[in-house]
Amino acid sequence: MGEQLVGSEYVKMTPAADKSIWSASVNKKEFELLINSNAVLLDVLRDQVGTLGVKRGCDLGTCGCCTVMIDGEPRLSCLCLAGQVSGSDIITVEGLADGAHLAPIQACFAKYGGSQCGFCTPGFLIASQALLEANPSPTDDEVAEAIEGNLCRCTGYQQIIESIQEAAKIHRGESAAPQPASSPHPDPHPDGPGEPSMPPGHAK
Ligand code: FES
Ligand code: FES
Repeated sequence: MGEQLVGSEYVKMTPAADKSIWSASVNKKEFELLINSNAVLLDVLRDQVGTLGVKRGCDLGTCGCCTVMIDGEPRLSCLCLAGQVSGSDIITVEGLADGAHLAPIQACFAKYGGSQCGFCTPGFLIASQALLEANPSPTDDEVAEAIEGNLCRCTGYQQIIESIQEAAKIHRGESAAPQPASSPHPDPHPDGPGEPSMPPGHAK
C-alpha cells in the first residue's frame, strides 16, 4: 500500500481493488465480465450487464427495489457481492417476459393496479414470481410474508396482493392471462428523430 503526502503528513492510501473474472447466467444469457473483486451485484447488473430494470432504492437492504432471483431465490442485489454469486443463475425483471408476451405476474400487475409509479415494481415482480414458482396457491398471509421486504409508497399494497393472487390463478390454470390494454405499436421513428422542422408561419 502506497503513501501520499497530504499537507505535511504521509497518509496511507487505500489500495485499488483487484480485478477478477465474473461469470454468471443472467436472464438465460451467459456473461463473463472483468469486475472489481469487491463489486456489489447491483452495480455489476446495472453498469456492466445493462439490466437497468434492477432498481437502486435505499442501497441499504430496506426497500426491496433491487431484488433479483438467484438460483430461484429472491435476494437483495445491493447486499450481495457479485463474487459470492459467480456461476449462479440470475433472473432480473427483464427475464420474466417471454419475448413480447408478459409473464402472468406482469400482466396482472398491469391489470389490477399493482404498479403505479412503477419504481418498486421490478422488485415486487421478482419476489412474487419466486413465491409463485415455489407455491402456486399462497394464502394472503403467505403473499404478505413473501413481499414483506418490499416497500411501495403508491399502492397501499392491496392491489399488489390482488395482482399476485390473480397471477396465482393463471399459474394454477384456473384463469387465462389478461389481454393487454393495447397491442404493441411499431416504432414510429426507427432511425431516430429527423431534422427538427419549424412550425408553419415561422421563417427558417
Ligand atoms: S436498494 Fe437494495 S434493498 Fe433498497
Ligand atoms: S408503485 Fe410507486 S412505489 Fe410502488
